[in-house]
Amino acid sequence: MRVLVLGAAAGGGFPQWNAGSAACMRARRGDPAARPATQASIALSADGERWVVVNASPDLRQQIEANPPLWPRRGPRHSPIAAVVVTNGDVDAVAGLLHLREGTPFALYASPRTLAVLDRNPIFEVLDRRLVPRRPLPFEEPFRLRDAAGEELGLEAVAFPVPGKPPLYLEGEYGERLVTDAEEGDVVGVEFRARGYRVVYVGNVARIDDSLRARLAGAEVVFVDATLWRDDEMIRAGVGAKTGRRMGHVSVSGPDGVLARLADLPIGRRILIHVNNTNPILLADSPERREVEAAGFEVAHDGMEIVP
Ligand code: MLT
Ligand code: MN
Repeated sequence: MRVLVLGAAAGGGFPQWNAGSAACMRARRGDPAARPATQASIALSADGERWVVVNASPDLRQQIEANPPLWPRRGPRHSPIAAVVVTNGDVDAVAGLLHLREGTPFALYASPRTLAVLDRNPIFEVLDRRLVPRRPLPFEEPFRLRDAAGEELGLEAVAFPVPGKPPLYLEGEYGERLVTDAEEGDVVGVEFRARGYRVVYVGNVARIDDSLRARLAGAEVVFVDATLWRDDEMIRAGVGAKTGRRMGHVSVSGPDGVLARLADLPIGRRILIHVNNTNPILLADSPERREVEAAGFEVAHDGMEIVP
């Protein structure tokens, strides 16, 4: 299995358009310790020919151009992207679907909840349903990923709902209950397998509970939510009123954080992804970056490639 990190950053990217923080300014000025990052997405392939993209970020067009394996290879109209798996309905996970119009087939997988969100947003009808079948992700049930024509891609997947949040633009419909329980499927994690090699993507998660720990144990590669370093980071930075918890994201540090909850598990590679522009782990020279690396974690970066 080959895995490419198309984008490492959370919604907004790094630098974010309206962010004038020291870190974002360093990224703009080309400081090598502040590498720019596009919005979170990975691509996987069992055969190196046909690829599955996990989350269609608003930067997908740029991500395709930056990754030659995703370039057309056959004739005047072709794409190696055979399927797209969407893990939630947030703008940073679905807006890139609009880049994939123009009549090339691929299969679109998402939870029933997220498919319902796409169904009620008519702009996504630019993806002709005859060419781009929308397939509900079964929960807790291994299935084989297939292209639009139904041909197997050599990857098995298991989707599992995780605690998370409905998309920002639908929050009004959820009243006070903003972080939803796993069962509801607003946010899913997905495990991909090929020949016994397991890659798990959990780029958005509000809480790392014991069932998630059990699922991640023994995986060769885990991509996990690293939106914020600490829960009150946005408030302290003066850029917002929301905590990480309120946004449906576990923090990297702290007693219930990603480091504390995953450091002891047997996992081949622990890769932090969906990193917000306020998170100091984006900076290669920060003490927080040293701390995550000392704990056995890597910070994803655009263009990172994982080959077993
Ligand atoms: C998130 O992950 O919290 C979302 O990307 C927020 C957003 O839609 O801006
Ligand atoms: Mn996001």
